[in-house]
Amino acid sequence: MKIMVINGPNIDMLGIREPDIYGENTYANLLEMLKKYAEEKNIDIVPFQSNIEGEIVNAIHTAYFDGFDGIVINPAAYTHYSIAIADAIKAVDTPCVEVHLSNISARDEFRKISYTAQNCVGQIAGFGFFGYKMAVDALIDRIKNYE
Ligand code: DQA
Repeated sequence: MKIMVINGPNIDMLGIREPDIYGENTYANLLEMLKKYAEEKNIDIVPFQSNIEGEIVNAIHTAYFDGFDGIVINPAAYTHYSIAIADAIKAVDTPCVEVHLSNISARDEFRKISYTAQNCVGQIAGFGFFGYKMAVDALIDRIKNYE
């Protein structure tokens, strides 16, 4: 099983950026955690991060054309306004789970709206790094039982 984990803008700044909201751990720490989790679950996890909208659209297309079984995506700020990323998720039949480190429902009004979640299987928000593990588990369960 092959899962692509896509992170959007400023996720490369974890540890530096607003640690009171996003924690002290870095993007490199997130990659380490995902690597260990992939070994534990005996699956392939391929990470991708970009600060550029079109590159995220391209990554979603790549996940589809390269036969990935699922996508975990934290579109970051693009969540709240990217029709292009929302359309890309809708364009492919690769199941996609949206993750947010913070609880976007408990923050600014503009963060309460997700353009992308409506085209995902579901959304996990507010559990920090653990949310990525939850998203991977949700995809494994879905792929094994429903695909
Ligand atoms: C985020 C929440 C977004 O509102 C914000 O723009 C981010 C990170 C999160 O993981 O909590 O960059 O997606």
